[in-house]
Amino acid sequence: MASIKLLLANAHVEGIRTYEVYRKQGGYQSVEKVLGALTPDEVTEEVKKSGLRGRGGAGFPTGMKWSFLAKPEGVPRYLVVNADESEPGTFKDRYLMEFIPHLLIEGMIVSSYALGAKASYIYIRGEYAWIVDILEQAIAEAKQNGWLGKNILGKGYDLEIYVQRGAGAYICGEETALIESLEGKRGNPRIKPPFPAVKGVWGCPTVVNNVETIAAVVPIMMMGGEAYAGIGVGRSTGTKLISACGNINKPGVYEIDMTCSVEEFIYSEEYCGGIPNGKRLKACIPGGSSVPIVPANLLLKTAKGETRYMNYESLSDGGFESGTMMGSGGFIVFDEDQCIVRHTMTLARFYNHESCGQCSPCREGTGWMYKILKNIEYGKGKMADIDLLWDIQRRIEGNTICPLGDAAAWPVAAAIRHFRDEFEWHVTHPEESQKSNFGLPIMQILYK
Ligand SMILES: Cc1cc2nc3c(=O)[nH]c(=O)nc-3n(C[C@H](O)[C@H](O)[C@H](O)COP(=O)(O)O)c2cc1C
Repeated sequence: MASIKLLLANAHVEGIRTYEVYRKQGGYQSVEKVLGALTPDEVTEEVKKSGLRGRGGAGFPTGMKWSFLAKPEGVPRYLVVNADESEPGTFKDRYLMEFIPHLLIEGMIVSSYALGAKASYIYIRGEYAWIVDILEQAIAEAKQNGWLGKNILGKGYDLEIYVQRGAGAYICGEETALIESLEGKRGNPRIKPPFPAVKGVWGCPTVVNNVETIAAVVPIMMMGGEAYAGIGVGRSTGTKLISACGNINKPGVYEIDMTCSVEEFIYSEEYCGGIPNGKRLKACIPGGSSVPIVPANLLLKTAKGETRYMNYESLSDGGFESGTMMGSGGFIVFDEDQCIVRHTMTLARFYNHESCGQCSPCREGTGWMYKILKNIEYGKGKMADIDLLWDIQRRIEGNTICPLGDAAAWPVAAAIRHFRDEFEWHVTHPEESQKSNFGLPIMQILYK
């Protein structure tokens, strides 16, 4: 099936990172179309019509989120672009910002206008240091050419965009932790309510949106909300960027329309190009490390035997018993040689390291899960440990201020649900299971 490209259509045009080339390719036309011609509420309506759902993970409808923004007289409002992207397996925002930075800037101008923001931020993870320079260059070019600053296009609208670097913490991707960090504090999540739409940056109404979400506002305004909603299927409208990695022939960032099946995505030459060395597919984490892993038999077909598609509804079909989530679109493929216990342990270590420590179930539970998984992986596990792991993850889920706890619990729950026999085999075959683990010496050094 020929794919539709809305965000990456010009990604391979030479020099597209520069203002001149981006403009020549039709860049900034959405700003010309909107400023002075549409009211901010009309822009929000168009985004609502498009059915765009937040691309940061939760898939919340963007237009609805914008319409929740409080608008008290005389109080500034802010748009914050979440460029933290620290979910393992997710690198799509990096691609957008690195190669087409002006698309994000253009989307921010239109979105900030809709929200009535006169200052907007890009909060970017510290590890993307080189992209900070790219973004700052793009912002400077946009300003030189009259798209930012005072009285943009002579339409009486003022906007400044600032780039703020985080220090490199996964938790700072959570919107309220991000806001704390942006304000110069330790990035601990806030209790909600109040939601950022009422009390966000500097105590003012704030919308936090993912990089891809804001970039998608450009094609929406160019083609119209209804036409955008006509692409995709059901409530999965428009296109979605997927960063694909793991055991595939062609890792990379792909733009799909959400009628693409999972099978087509993994095996077609247009996307992942199949699994190297003719190996069989074992499992997949389709939406970034936090979403449940799915075994091959439930990945390509749902439990009802229907084809599974790369969209919000189809991927979650069957709930967590047999389905998973679209999440942030970090698609990680595992071939038959991969050890699920080892991967689960690696993820548990990550969540333990990244827990901010505010909530006891997350702070203590993630460390406890990691310790047990390490024992199982290194041949010191007991059968009772598997039930204990299940019990711990169950007590973390839903019992923390922010969803980092859920994100730590779901991978463990799904791994046990679908691969319990592999955990048991590790317990009953401590020596063999270690030998079978590719890369074990490196793991021992890293995870002593
Ligand atoms: C632990 C944690 C990490 C997160 N990391 C990110 C991130 O890196 N990027 C992102 O856009 N959203 C992330 N989110 C989701 C944000 O809290 C928020 O929902 C999102 O930025 C909203 O944007 P959207 O509506 O455009 O998806 C994270 C959430 C949690 C709980």
